[in-house]
Amino acid sequence: MKKVLAINYSQSGQLDEIMDNFLLPFSEVDVDRIKINAEKKFDFPWKIPAFFDVMPECVTEIPTTLSSFSFKYETYDLIIIGYQPWFLSPSIPTTSLLKQVEFQNRLKNTPVVTIIGARNMWLNAHKSVVNLVQQAGGRMIGNLPLIDKSSNLLSAGSILHWMLTGKKERKWGLLPMPGVSEEDITGAAKFGELLNEKMETGAFENYQDELVHSGGLTINTNILFIEGRAKKIFSIWANLILKKEAQGKKRSFWVSFFKYYLVVALFVVSPFVILIYNVLIRPFTGRSIQKLKQYYTFLGIK
Ligand SMILES: Cc1cc2nc3c(=O)[nH]c(=O)nc-3n(C[C@H](O)[C@H](O)[C@H](O)COP(=O)(O)O)c2cc1C
Repeated sequence: MKKVLAINYSQSGQLDEIMDNFLLPFSEVDVDRIKINAEKKFDFPWKIPAFFDVMPECVTEIPTTLSSFSFKYETYDLIIIGYQPWFLSPSIPTTSLLKQVEFQNRLKNTPVVTIIGARNMWLNAHKSVVNLVQQAGGRMIGNLPLIDKSSNLLSAGSILHWMLTGKKERKWGLLPMPGVSEEDITGAAKFGELLNEKMETGAFENYQDELVHSGGLTINTNILFIEGRAKKIFSIWANLILKKEAQGKKRSFWVSFFKYYLVVALFVVSPFVILIYNVLIRPFTGRSIQKLKQYYTFLGIK
């Protein structure tokens, strides 16, 4: 019987649900299903200071200790990693998993599929995840990023409500439902089925093509544009906060400064920047946008 490792962290249970639906078709396979957690748990719902305080470690990819767990097998025929981006980077538990030697040993020479449960910005985080998988000798064969499909500003408002209250509901009955839609969560099974069909032969070469063809991955041009710039700015902030802390300055002051920066950048500046981009730049960059989309669609795969 083929052995599959399916492993992820989830705070609200959304990514657990996505993974479980994806795994439904794997009935003839031995699935080692592991849900990880940090030893020092991240509170959910979040308090505002704690939410922004994780940014420097997320962006600079500093791992934390995970609660102990054990793998059923030394090697697997396939590893499915579920993860969520935090501040355009892998969530801290995900980074910690990818940097854990026991997990890296299992990644070696093994086909890997990633499943993402994000708001809408996963491109930079995925670069990091693919890098870490490949450094450990894993072979990327697929990536299924599920996102909140409402507009960037509305989804930012609704996800903050969800993260800060723990309630996956429409704020004031006005904002859209936060997170990945129920339809997409249950629809993950379709992409699991496509993969399950290849388990017996191990011929995974066309999996990502089929996944894309079935609507499993689309990249929004405006998000591509924002992500192309935002991670560099986050890196500057992350290093600045860590440097100030090392110099004995009050970390919370600088984190709070970042919080105000982010709120203004997201809700005030970015709509204007996007408008200018769409009017003045985008019409002349069609080919490079297509190339970038292709790059992220098959990141680490082709
Ligand atoms: C601290 C924090 C930062 C986040 N940053 C991002 C981000 O940069 N991009 C994104 O698409 N989603 C972001 N999200 C949303 C998560 O990726 C994820 O969709 C959400 O937390 C639900 O995941 P769960 O299954 O762990 O509950 C963030 C969430 C948290 C808590």
